[in-house]
Amino acid sequence: MKGLILSGGHGARLRPITYSQQKQLIPIANKPILFYCIEDLINAGIHDIAIVVGPNKEQVIDTVRSAQWDAAIEFVHQDAPRGLAHAVKIAEKFLEDEKFIMYLGDNLLKGGITGFVNDFIDADVESSLLLTRVENPHQYGVALVDEQKKVIVKLMEKPRNPPSNLSIVGIYGLTPSIFEAIERIKPSWRGELEITDALHWLIEKGYSIRYDLVEGWWKDTGKPEDLLEANRLILDGICSENKGCIENSRINGRIVIGDNTVIEEHSTIAGPAIIGDNCTISSAYVGPFTSIGNNCRIIDTEVENSIVLDGSDIVHGGKIIESLIGKEVRIRKNNSLPKGKKLVVGDNSEIEL
Ligand code: DAU
Repeated sequence: MKGLILSGGHGARLRPITYSQQKQLIPIANKPILFYCIEDLINAGIHDIAIVVGPNKEQVIDTVRSAQWDAAIEFVHQDAPRGLAHAVKIAEKFLEDEKFIMYLGDNLLKGGITGFVNDFIDADVESSLLLTRVENPHQYGVALVDEQKKVIVKLMEKPRNPPSNLSIVGIYGLTPSIFEAIERIKPSWRGELEITDALHWLIEKGYSIRYDLVEGWWKDTGKPEDLLEANRLILDGICSENKGCIENSRINGRIVIGDNTVIEEHSTIAGPAIIGDNCTISSAYVGPFTSIGNNCRIIDTEVENSIVLDGSDIVHGGKIIESLIGKEVRIRKNNSLPKGKKLVVGDNSEIEL
């Protein structure tokens, strides 16, 4: 079976980070979200994968090619984010005439997808979806199900009045009948060809769509708070590994420390946390659920429940909590007069002082 990962789109809700970085490449526990999707497909036995790329396509292609994969990976260019169904349509040549799995490249799933894929291989259905109960169904695709027959009877994309609290998770088992369905639907109010509408078209034609419920957690990393939560969930499962050097400092709990990283001058690292390569952590506290990228300096600062991307430099930064800090960011205490906060902040940034 083949796999299709969607890694296009603008990631508008994650600006300013996504002005310079494609959202699926944002690291969670120091690994791009997209890599978790590729690994899930490979672990489920799928070794023939296409990735739909859009804005920043070179960045996605270079990052994927910088790693070794037990899979043949090719890329399909989408000229603009015209919808999930449009992404499937342009990949038709790659997908050919067989069942396939589509994985949204900004979704994270704890338990992997092996069980789901195996059930779909065996099932005589037109499609198989993963569903989960959510508190805010109007923000997702929503399914109404027949629990006895274990099939879906209705699908709606982000409905104002959701008919259930069962949200569509971003992993879809599809068959070539989806291509005809996509031809039959029109763009939605947001101008996109919705995969939910194409699937609903199949239901109306009498085709059968089964579902599984997610076991364990699932995260759509659309907003900054989702990234921080995904970071907490992934860090919760890490195992300790120390390749760095710890001098006069304390380490509590599960910590991953990269090559050439120095923890010094009475620092405390409280796990679970991950610190990348070539970092200096000095007179600092790196608290639980924090990911620090490569080449960072954290000096005389406390960081907790946060993600700090590569090359950032934080000196006398006070206490930083629940923050998402981009690449090559410099945070300093203002030691000169007049006293006050000096900010050079990109468009669409958010600061809570
Ligand atoms: O995460 C689950 C939800 O994903 C489902 O419940 C919804 O039914 C489904 O429509 C989708 O909703 P989102 O609003 O979260 O979709 P988003 O626009 O964020 O796109 C999902 C992924 O697909 C993301 O990685 C970007 C990529 N994408 C998106 C579009 C619109 C593309 O590659 N091309 C596109 O044209």
